[in-house]
Amino acid sequence: EGYQYIISSTPKPGVALIQLNRPKALNALCTPLIQELNSALRSHQANPSISAIVLTGSERAFAAGADIKEMKDLTFSAAYRDDFIESWSDLVSFLKKPLITAVNGYALGGGCELAMMGDIMYCSQSAVFGQPEIKLGTIPGAGGSQRLTKAIGKSRAMEAILTGNNISAKQAGEWGLVAKVFETPQECVDGAIATAEKIASYSQVAVKAAKEVVNKSQDLGIREGVEFERRVFHGLFGSQDQKIGMGAFAEKKKAEWKNE
Ligand code: HXC
Repeated sequence: EGYQYIISSTPKPGVALIQLNRPKALNALCTPLIQELNSALRSHQANPSISAIVLTGSERAFAAGADIKEMKDLTFSAAYRDDFIESWSDLVSFLKKPLITAVNGYALGGGCELAMMGDIMYCSQSAVFGQPEIKLGTIPGAGGSQRLTKAIGKSRAMEAILTGNNISAKQAGEWGLVAKVFETPQECVDGAIATAEKIASYSQVAVKAAKEVVNKSQDLGIREGVEFERRVFHGLFGSQDQKIGMGAFAEKKKAEWKNE
């Protein structure tokens, strides 16, 4: 599709796979790469034959961060005026389809932040997470301080961000930063694709609603969150797929979803 820094494919029906592909710079996230990623995600969001998306890097690096060489001479005025990094927040905010990030090798700085934008995170034993910005005289700028803290708790996130120390795959698994730690990079990517395939096999009306209600928990208090969930749950009684799913159960048949 004419991309220079990413490879987009469809490994299974309903599943899109995006691989970051800037090997010489360990997938450092330069502006054109982010633009390509943005446009690939947008086209998958708009494509009715895609139901879930997997994002991965290489065996050596998911992404070693924002492009330091591109950033090093940036001035405050230019960063402020052009809202540097704002395009990153656009990357997933429009995405209603589930995104699974499969992390092998380095996921540092902006790479860790991008990985954490996934609805589900997987990694292999080779993964190395971290927010090393402090070593460069700066701080995380694409959500790291917020998402890492929500994911692993304040004390651990504070330690990682203030020291720049890496977080191993083992720690990431134990702390719940990732949902699963696979042995090998190939198993990690295959596992992500299998999960995406499973999600794609369900009613896409229900999948969309499920993602929406889980995400609400990040912004709402428990009472409002539970109320929101119940409203959406009620709404699904208006879908054909709820009738199809429960009807198939009662008749001991396989549900044939209409996505209606
Ligand atoms: C630009 C990078 C890069 C980066 C690696 N490279 N990371 N270029 N930006 N973030 C380039 C190197 O310059 C080098 O290019 C090539 O990739 C291979 O990297 P090496 O350092 O030679 O590899 P290695 O010795 O194996 O070390 C791997 C590494 C190290 C530990 C991951 O590259 C590293 O520390 N990278 C920077 C990690 C980092 O600080 N990330 C946070 C960035 S700040 P040449 O041309 O020399 O071969 C950030 C802020 C986010 O992300 C804010 C909001 C987005």
